[in-house]
Amino acid sequence: MSTRRKESARPWWQTEVFYQIYPRSFADSDGDGVGDINGVIERLDYLEWLGIGGIWFNPVMPSPNHDWGYDVADYCDVHPDLGTLEDVDRLVGAADKRGMKIIFDIVPNHTSDQHEWFRDALTSRDARYRNYYVWADPIKDGGPPNNWLSVFGGSAWEWHEPTGQYYLHNFLDTQPDLDWWNEDVRNEFDRILSFWFNRGIAGFRIDVAHGLIKDKALRDNLSTTDDDHPRARALAQQQTYSANRPEVHEIFKRWRKLSDAYDPQRILIGETFVYDLTRWAEFYGSGADELNLAFNFPFALGKFDVEHLKQVVRTSDEIIPPEAWPVWMASNHDIGRAMTRWCNDDPARGRVMMMLLLTLRGSPFVYYGEELGMPATPLESDQLKDPVGIRPWADDEGRDAARTPMQWSPEPGGGFTTADAEPWLPFGDLDAVNVEGQRGDPDSFLEFTRSLIRLRRQSFDLTDGAYVEGKGPAGMWVFKRGEKTVVAMNMSDDIATVQGVEGTVRASTTPGGIDEHAQGRLDLPPWSGVVVVE
Ligand code: GLC
Repeated sequence: MSTRRKESARPWWQTEVFYQIYPRSFADSDGDGVGDINGVIERLDYLEWLGIGGIWFNPVMPSPNHDWGYDVADYCDVHPDLGTLEDVDRLVGAADKRGMKIIFDIVPNHTSDQHEWFRDALTSRDARYRNYYVWADPIKDGGPPNNWLSVFGGSAWEWHEPTGQYYLHNFLDTQPDLDWWNEDVRNEFDRILSFWFNRGIAGFRIDVAHGLIKDKALRDNLSTTDDDHPRARALAQQQTYSANRPEVHEIFKRWRKLSDAYDPQRILIGETFVYDLTRWAEFYGSGADELNLAFNFPFALGKFDVEHLKQVVRTSDEIIPPEAWPVWMASNHDIGRAMTRWCNDDPARGRVMMMLLLTLRGSPFVYYGEELGMPATPLESDQLKDPVGIRPWADDEGRDAARTPMQWSPEPGGGFTTADAEPWLPFGDLDAVNVEGQRGDPDSFLEFTRSLIRLRRQSFDLTDGAYVEGKGPAGMWVFKRGEKTVVAMNMSDDIATVQGVEGTVRASTTPGGIDEHAQGRLDLPPWSGVVVVE
């Protein structure tokens, strides 16, 4: 471990860099074309070398995979494609030896329709687990109880003929929503969290964190307006009552107590998919009694535009309680790869993006492959696996382009699987982007990312220091971190000059220039950036 951590009084999750692994796509240890936990164990040395402190795994639990693990059939086991509980134990131990912690995905909003609770719930209105789910009678004409729409399309209500009621599903009809008003459901999840905490899991990324509680009276959602975020408008209605209820905070207060009771090193990270920063900040509670980290979607879904992002960062910084800690990500398995979405596959822009992620005040999340500048993989429609992409009636390619296998080497199998195995999703351009080709090349994207992570881990300013926005010409983002670290990024197509920066260049998006002295005037080429230590 770095010496810097000793200097900082902050907990590990505020100073370390996180890495998101989509387990089916990271490393396949048994040659079936599907990544698995043992594959990750074999690659932990790489993550240690990169400087990662925490790894978030997308769901590893048994699932019929209608939504690739986000439809959980058993919360306390591992999908056989991915491994076993013993593999998880070995993973936790092997990561621990390397100073890394493991975060699991927990999906409390809904189960799979194959979960034993739901199978039981279907048997009768009096079934033991019936009220674990949200059931409602039809309205007079037999139609669904209200206007709620599923995020994945169509009504959020599915008719169940044998018992004469509708059940709620905010996603697929094979993902019935749990009823979080039911104390039994809350108790079940206390047990589930404890089950994994007891196995050494350091925390959870909470799926659909904003959505667990639904309006008790099942009131109709309101329509979207022109002021709503384009993604919200795509659903045609606000999730006024089908999600986003204030009572959800009670649940996270309860979870935070449970998590802190283990030890204060355990963490809860919310998929707080809200478009409004005020609402986002609420998930931190007082700053120490709700979620430790809440993903910032207004940032990640914003335009890669300097003024826009500055504004989001400034407001985020101002709005959260003093004790709360920001978290930044640009890519994930849902919103796609920022290398493509933000940067048009341009490595220069990609490096600026990486510099931004790794120098802002807050915990950065790097999505697997992002450290290489891996772009989205273009796929044919018959290659898609994501239910969102294969809906016949919707013009949406879905999320597979960001879920293709990690690109380890240019050989057949890509270092991901054996040469003769068919990967579960096709590879991107292995020749253009792979770990083997970049590792050891000081000018590569990977070495650039690694050097920034290293700088960050050594720099108290970068982990702990305040964020103070500086002045610069149009297109330029200049900010100071802590006492003496200045980040200057030219996010425009023109050369830009910033004045008044003196010190040693400790990181640069363009090869060379490191350790040079900046003497007041910095000319930055288009799409480039530096970290200068005064
Ligand atoms: C979250 C997950 C996404 C999944 C959805 C339904 O948004 O990140 O992948 O499809 O929840 O579980």
